[in-house]
Amino acid sequence: MKKIQISPSILSADFSQLGNEIKKLEEGGADMIHVDVMDGHFVPNLTMGPPIIRALRQHTKLPFDVHLMISPVHKYIQDYADAGANIITIHPEATENLKNSIQHIKSLNKKVGVSLNPETKIDLIIELLDEIDLVLIMSVNPGFGGQKFMPKVLEKIKELKKIKDEKNLEFDIEIDGGINFDNNKLAIAAGANILVSGTTIFKNNNGNIKKNIELLKSS
Ligand code: DX5
Ligand code: ZN
Repeated sequence: MKKIQISPSILSADFSQLGNEIKKLEEGGADMIHVDVMDGHFVPNLTMGPPIIRALRQHTKLPFDVHLMISPVHKYIQDYADAGANIITIHPEATENLKNSIQHIKSLNKKVGVSLNPETKIDLIIELLDEIDLVLIMSVNPGFGGQKFMPKVLEKIKELKKIKDEKNLEFDIEIDGGINFDNNKLAIAAGANILVSGTTIFKNNNGNIKKNIELLKSS
C-alpha cells in the first residue's frame, strides 16, 4: 500500500501571510502544497494565478500540487509549469482534447493529474489511466472551501482502486473536499492515498497544523 500523504489547500490559509503559512505547513509535516486555482468561469469563485505561485516557490521545497479549475485550461498550462508547479491537475470538461492536454503537461516534465467532479464518471479517463500520474476525486462540487463531504464518491474511489490494481498501474488517488478526522479513514479505506484538506488543517485544534496533519494521516 502507498504511504498516505497530506496535501494542505492554501485556500484556507491567511492570504496576507501566504509565505509564512507555507513554512508552517512544511514544518507541520505536509507532503505537498495544494494550490486551488479558480477563474470565476469554470467555477463560481476567483482565487490565484501564476504570479502568486511563482512568488511562493522560494518559500518551500515541497512540491506544488496545482489544481486548475479554469476553462479553457490548455493555453495556460505552460504558465503554471513555468511558475513552479510540480503536479498539474486539470478537469476533462475544461479542455477540448484531454489527451492533448495530458501530453502537453508531460512534455513540460510535470506530473499530470486529472480531476473528476462528483458527477463525472471514471469512463471518461479509463483508456488514459496509464498516461496519468494522479486522479483527483472531488468530494464536493469545486469552487469553495468548507463544503460538506459527499460520501457517494467513495464508491468511485473503490472502483478506481480496483482498476488500478487489476491493471497494475501506479497512479495516485487523491481526494479533495470536506475531508475531516472521520471521513479520512473512509477515504483511505476506499483507496485514496493523498488527502487534500483546507478547513480541517487550518481551523481545527486552534490551527495546530502539525497535530491536524498527524490526525488526518492516522486511520
Ligand atoms: C474546492 C477545492 C478544495 C477545497 C478544500 O474547490 O478544490 O481544495 O478548497 O478545502 P476543504 O478541505 O475546506 O473542503
Ligand atoms: Zn482542490
